[in-house]
Amino acid sequence: MKKIITYGTFDLFHIGHYNILKRAKEQGDYLVVGVTGENYDIGRGKLNVHDSLATRIENVEKTGFADEIIVEEYLGQKIGDIVKYDIDAFVIGDDWRGKFDHLSRYCDMIYLERTKGISSTQIREEKFNQYDIGIICDFADDNQIVKEAKLVNGFEAKNIYCDNPEELNLFQKKYSLPNVFDDYNELIDASDIIYIRCSIEKRFNFIKRALKLGKHVIYDPPATFKTYELEKLMKLAKEKNLILMENIKMVHIYVFNQLLWMTQGGLIGDILSFNCSISKNDETRSNLFYDLSSLTILPMLKIMGQNYEKADFQVKKDGDNIEFASMNFVYPNGRAIINVGNEIRVDNQLEIIGTEGTIRMKGDWWRSKSFELHTPGSKDVQLYNTNFEGNGFKYLIREMSRMLSNNRIDSRSIFEDESFNIVKILEQVKKAEN
Ligand code: CTP
Repeated sequence: MKKIITYGTFDLFHIGHYNILKRAKEQGDYLVVGVTGENYDIGRGKLNVHDSLATRIENVEKTGFADEIIVEEYLGQKIGDIVKYDIDAFVIGDDWRGKFDHLSRYCDMIYLERTKGISSTQIREEKFNQYDIGIICDFADDNQIVKEAKLVNGFEAKNIYCDNPEELNLFQKKYSLPNVFDDYNELIDASDIIYIRCSIEKRFNFIKRALKLGKHVIYDPPATFKTYELEKLMKLAKEKNLILMENIKMVHIYVFNQLLWMTQGGLIGDILSFNCSISKNDETRSNLFYDLSSLTILPMLKIMGQNYEKADFQVKKDGDNIEFASMNFVYPNGRAIINVGNEIRVDNQLEIIGTEGTIRMKGDWWRSKSFELHTPGSKDVQLYNTNFEGNGFKYLIREMSRMLSNNRIDSRSIFEDESFNIVKILEQVKKAEN
């Protein structure tokens, strides 16, 4: 019996998929079809898959050509599958020609001609809404949104407005977006989603303007130092049924959700201490201290909760600039200490100590792909990790995409009380600063 194997995502099942399965079956007597699993696709950066794994399997099954369907769950699985299923030939469309030649040591390689004029990508583009992202910034850095948005179905950063002509020029040289605006009302008009990436002092007005004109907003937090201003923005977004979302990518990354699951689910016992430090020195950015602080406060609120009993702040300034600040929070059963350095350097790290284990994220923990779990009495350190390219912006945009398609404006990655409390704490730090 000649056994054949072929693989694919088979999203939005189309005639090209049908043809390749039919012809693959004709190459032998028994056909094994590998359908890519969701985690595997996410890991390799394919975030635009529309159909669930169950639907994609069902569609392959319905053709009647597959004798066996398996799920492709990780990179490098193919060799193991060829051995496991005792495969004689590997079939794939000729768009992959040359990419799998290393498998020819294990079985025959057959590249079949692709059906012309159709692909899942094309169907996705035709079938689903397209969202144009407009960026408002005052320095020439896109935070990788241009590249990352392209990885999510239906999203593209197309428009840019910058109130500093020199920076606008630089931005355009770096990212060459199709449309450049020197009037932000025009940019807002031309976009469906506005990404606000400018200094804190300008954010509130830009966000308000974008919401008033009916556009969804992603913004670098904090939106403002004043809780009443944030409340205004939240109210406006609700009235207009618009998404208002902080750019805090960490909470959209798989490994952080594992960490949350462990800490919130009691897997490291009762939490005694939350400790984190962050530092960065960038003189071109004013108030960078507050940008960094938002990133640290959110995980604390998620892990320790919103109900701290007491907070005090120590702020060290050099002229107008905050060089260092320490924020200390007393919770009923534990403590949280957050150190943020600007000119004064602190080592980046996040540590959560529980009665039954300690979690550590080293280095740039806010974009970390892994954390360590130390369990008392065990010498072994368990490593939890996830692999992805880029800075994770695509996961935030994917969350937005899901919210838009489900017609939901509240994010469950960052709850409203958490957004509010970040600004409330920063408002207090601002008072301590002066
Ligand atoms: N295929 C084909 N003809 C097409 C499209 C796909 O023969 N017009 C084949 C591919 O070469 C592959 C299999 O179908 O062997 C599964 O491909 P998949 O990547 O799932 O489909 P695409 O339509 O190429 O998806 P995408 O646009 O997301 O890359």
